Amino acid sequence: MKIYLLVFGLIICLSGFSAAPMALTEYSLVETKTEKGLVSCALCNSIISDIFLGFENGQTDEEISAGIGQRCETLNLYNYKVCYGTAFIAMPTIRYIYSLGVVEGNICGMLLQTGNCGFSDPGLLEWSVTPSSIPKPPITEPALPPDGSPTLKVLHLSDIHWDPEYLEGSNAVCGDPLCCRASSGEIVNDTDAAGYWGDRRGCDLPWRTIESAVSHMAQQHSDAAYIIWTGDLTPHDTWSTDKDENLMIIDRLMTLMQQYFPEVPLYPTLGNHESHPVNTFAPPEITDVDFNTAWLYDEADRQWARWLPAEVSSTIRYGGFYTALAQPGLRIVSMNMNYCYIFNYWTYYKSQDPASILTWLNQVLEDAELAGEKVHILSHIPPGNGDCWTIFSREFAKIINRFESTVAAQFYGHTHNDEYKIFYDFVELDRAVNVAFVAPSLTTSSDLNPGYRTYTIDGPRPGSTWAVLDHSTWIMNLTVANAQDPSINPVWFELYQAKRDYALTDLNPRSMDVFYQRLVTDDALFQIYFEHYYKMADERLEEGCDAECRTKLLCFIVTTDPLDQSRCQNIRRQLLSQHPEF
Ligand SMILES: *[C@@H]1O[C@H](CO)[C@@H](O)[C@H](O)[C@H]1NC(C)=O
Ligand SMILES: *[C@@H]1O[C@H](CO)[C@@H](O)[C@H](O)[C@H]1NC(C)=O
Repeated sequence: MKIYLLVFGLIICLSGFSAAPMALTEYSLVETKTEKGLVSCALCNSIISDIFLGFENGQTDEEISAGIGQRCETLNLYNYKVCYGTAFIAMPTIRYIYSLGVVEGNICGMLLQTGNCGFSDPGLLEWSVTPSSIPKPPITEPALPPDGSPTLKVLHLSDIHWDPEYLEGSNAVCGDPLCCRASSGEIVNDTDAAGYWGDRRGCDLPWRTIESAVSHMAQQHSDAAYIIWTGDLTPHDTWSTDKDENLMIIDRLMTLMQQYFPEVPLYPTLGNHESHPVNTFAPPEITDVDFNTAWLYDEADRQWARWLPAEVSSTIRYGGFYTALAQPGLRIVSMNMNYCYIFNYWTYYKSQDPASILTWLNQVLEDAELAGEKVHILSHIPPGNGDCWTIFSREFAKIINRFESTVAAQFYGHTHNDEYKIFYDFVELDRAVNVAFVAPSLTTSSDLNPGYRTYTIDGPRPGSTWAVLDHSTWIMNLTVANAQDPSINPVWFELYQAKRDYALTDLNPRSMDVFYQRLVTDDALFQIYFEHYYKMADERLEEGCDAECRTKLLCFIVTTDPLDQSRCQNIRRQLLSQHPEF
């Protein structure tokens, strides 16, 4: 069964689909250099050669995409429509990248990075960002703010995935990567019908649920100092996307936020789904307007100007990233982590610091350090995730390490789960140096309740650490909402508070590391973490979390370079010794 999962992942990835961002990662953590790994590597290489051979032999995009569609059907993965459509949309871009001389033997090595698939060009692995020439200042343990110090509330909204074609009563179990549309086919059983407020069975959100969420936020969190918004606004129908629809969705959602929060600054970042073909973010040296990402970066610049100062324009138009001061002493750095995404075909063309984004980050942090500012980094894809390129992740972690005293916190989305990641020192291996907070999705896709987060941040005062002091996750119970009369608005409620419900004194890196160690050994605590991770979705709770599942959740926390699985292997050993029954 597992091999099919991977084949599925592969074809879908190669044809541009990544609705389940974790599918490949989950697999890769389980299977490393096994026989199956070799099979999947061979299979990947055969698919890539077929596509490239097609280009050489003058096959059309239709013909090559049809080949992928047929392979999908034969393997009983997705239907022809989904695979053909997704491949066909991406094929001109793939053909163009091929024409630029991409190294074929590297592609599967990158795509299956934890599967040891190999690289024909080892140069791919041998690059690094020039480190700061200023020596790292001595490390001081961040002190907690004195009682009564001012704090800021920050709202974090991620992975909205609005589906403009969502239709209540349509088929929610259609077998496509996205259901709950008029086009999702016949309903065979009443229980298959899509709910009024959304559906956890592979569907994105209807507008009304997004409006309900935002309206509730505006009431509940009118005191928010600012909002961070970590991308993925569009639906998972990768076989039928187009630029105009993506731009319409960006505009409608930005306008909605502005209506409900007219006075509150919003700091956005681009998700992998905002582009078309999905996941494609070309480096700036690609000037051909049919294939570069200027259409999206220019529009992002226009849209984000609702909140951002004029001086961010040049870097947004160059590479979809920017920095701005949120408060005197607190700087926001919004990264475009789609440049590390292994499903972004452009990373096969250029993986070495695309758009010089890491060099830029290094410089911004150096300037911030000199100016005595603290920095919050935000982006869509968490570095170190299984789908973020290993060398990029490693170089990112080095920069975080150098500037651990300047980077007060990091914020991401993309995984749809409520979780976090710890960065550790490279010398004192057990010393936690930084924390990335990963917010849950608003979308229900898949098997999730809709949710979002708020943070309490050390506020404006002399010597503020701007550290995250606490966070809360808010959800609504979709089962209850859909069972009610549609005229009744869903109830949004606070699911948990990190400090209170995890018994933490603070959320500093050292404390989050101690918390992680408790998660490894304390079954009852882990159960609570697991329930929050899936936002208490009924199906997930019924399923429970076995050893493999627990390993996956814990590995995520301590992995900041996908190829360095050492901490993850320790978890496996430790869990096994505690639970021989696993
Ligand atoms: C419809 O679904 C229910 C609940 O899953 C099941 O008990 C029933 O047998 C199904 N009916 C048909 C006709 O498949
Ligand atoms: C959601 O509602 C269902 C049905 O009433 C209930 O079984 C479940 O415990 C609720 N979950 C949460 C998180 O409130």
